[in-house]
Amino acid sequence: MPSIANASDNGELKQRQPEQELVCVTGGGGFIGSWVVKELLLRGYRVRGTARDPAYLMARAFALVCEADRKNAHLLALEGAEERLTFFRADDLVPVAVEATRNVIRAAADAGVHRVVFTSSYGAVHMDPNRGPDAVLDETCWSDYEYCKNTGNLYCCAKMMTEITATEEAAKRGLELAVVVPSMTMGPMLQQALNFSSSHVARYLTGAKPTYPNAIAAYTDVRDVARAHVLVYEHPDAHGRYLCIGAVLYRAHFLQLLGDLFLQYHITAKYERNTIDLI
Ligand SMILES: NC(=O)c1ccc[n+]([C@@H]2O[C@H](COP(=O)([O-])OP(=O)(O)OC[C@H]3O[C@@H](n4cnc5c(N)ncnc54)[C@H](OP(=O)(O)O)[C@@H]3O)[C@@H](O)[C@H]2O)c1
Repeated sequence: MPSIANASDNGELKQRQPEQELVCVTGGGGFIGSWVVKELLLRGYRVRGTARDPAYLMARAFALVCEADRKNAHLLALEGAEERLTFFRADDLVPVAVEATRNVIRAAADAGVHRVVFTSSYGAVHMDPNRGPDAVLDETCWSDYEYCKNTGNLYCCAKMMTEITATEEAAKRGLELAVVVPSMTMGPMLQQALNFSSSHVARYLTGAKPTYPNAIAAYTDVRDVARAHVLVYEHPDAHGRYLCIGAVLYRAHFLQLLGDLFLQYHITAKYERNTIDLI
């Protein structure tokens, strides 16, 4: 079992024993969540995932479950899953994302959890039309909520509000909280269903998106995002926000990289004038 040196509260080093820690990953069957589960299992942690329909994972009786349940089946193949991975149902029916976040933090505090890692998004950071093009963005930056709301970007609104709620609620309940802020996340999928950021790539690979806009976006690798989650979980000094960005690319450059990697595809080549595409 891996064992990780870790600073205790009084600054002394102690040995971390992952096999004695149980880590919960909400949305553990998703694109990023699956990689976080994998990374934790590889480090020896016991992992409890949540999914809206975890019957397949809970029963492990393949013949008795329906096709829909198989969405998260890829997790069973992960190294260590048999011994150290369990799944529970979590379908937050509260329609408001903020309320759902508050519920999760409260449930964690009630269950005696001491450290939470919240997955925010670069969308909560960079959407501000009043920032100059040379402005350097860091962990202190926030998107302009009114701008996001007025332009119908509810995803960014939700990410801002849920991050603030998680931070406030964790402080209220005395929970340690660190926030990982990934930019557009790319890379191999462990799950079968196409998540949003992977479908963004697929649209250019398949030609489903016939033209590309003159947009700039920040990208990161899903394996780095997963590692960032585990690192801020493990490091007691980690708190506040951590931006996770690998490269900032014009769309043309991004498509050129895709073309170099996937010669067999006819990558979208037509430039779309006078458009703004935010991702
Ligand atoms: N991918 C990116 O480019 C990117 C970038 C920045 C931030 N993020 C953030 O990273 C997180 C994961 O993104 P992802 O790309 O990995 O998405 P994903 O593949 O679509 O996974 C989302 C996960 O959330 C769970 N979920 C969705 N609705 C739920 C509900 N009502 N109740 C309970 N669970 C629910 C799903 O679980 P089941 O369907 O199995 O129940 C799924 O496992 C999100 O918070 C996203 O905002 C993603």
